[in-house]
Amino acid sequence: MNIAVRYYSRGGNTKKIAEAIAKAVGVEAKTLSEPLSSDVDILFLGSAPYGFDVDDEVKKFISGIDVSVGKVVNFSTSAVIRSTKKYAEKLLTKKNIAMAKEEFYCRGAFGVLHKGRPNESDLAAAADFAKKISKGEA
Ligand SMILES: Cc1cc2nc3c(=O)[nH]c(=O)nc-3n(C[C@H](O)[C@H](O)[C@H](O)COP(=O)(O)O)c2cc1C
Repeated sequence: MNIAVRYYSRGGNTKKIAEAIAKAVGVEAKTLSEPLSSDVDILFLGSAPYGFDVDDEVKKFISGIDVSVGKVVNFSTSAVIRSTKKYAEKLLTKKNIAMAKEEFYCRGAFGVLHKGRPNESDLAAAADFAKKISKGEA
């Protein structure tokens, strides 16, 4: 099973989740500046909303995918909305890439909101989620 982890994170919240997921499945978490170089079965793709949309980097990354991707598993952090899945899914649909219905989401600190998130328990939950996905149990 080929697994890759890519993420976009301005403030570091989504990066923490990316690293927990990557460690759990035994790969390296990389930023979107590193395109996929070979086919993958599972791509864990991380993002956060900024002004109710994902960053252009996420859009560019998805539109530039030129390898075969079995499915994308979304993970995200945010302060108000719940998850970036619908934004990423819209972009992936145009590329005929499947988005898994399972996703990982948790709150991410923003100003006075959600201080300390993601916390240790968020990271443990992300790792557990990733292990289950990679074993086909989620
Ligand atoms: C400029 C800016 C705009 C944001 N807009 C939203 C938003 O529209 N909806 C939301 O739920 N959170 C919003 N947030 C909060 C972030 O999505 C949240 O803090 C997230 O965890 C940031 O992830 P990062 O640290 O990986 O960049 C915004 C944060 C910033 C800095």
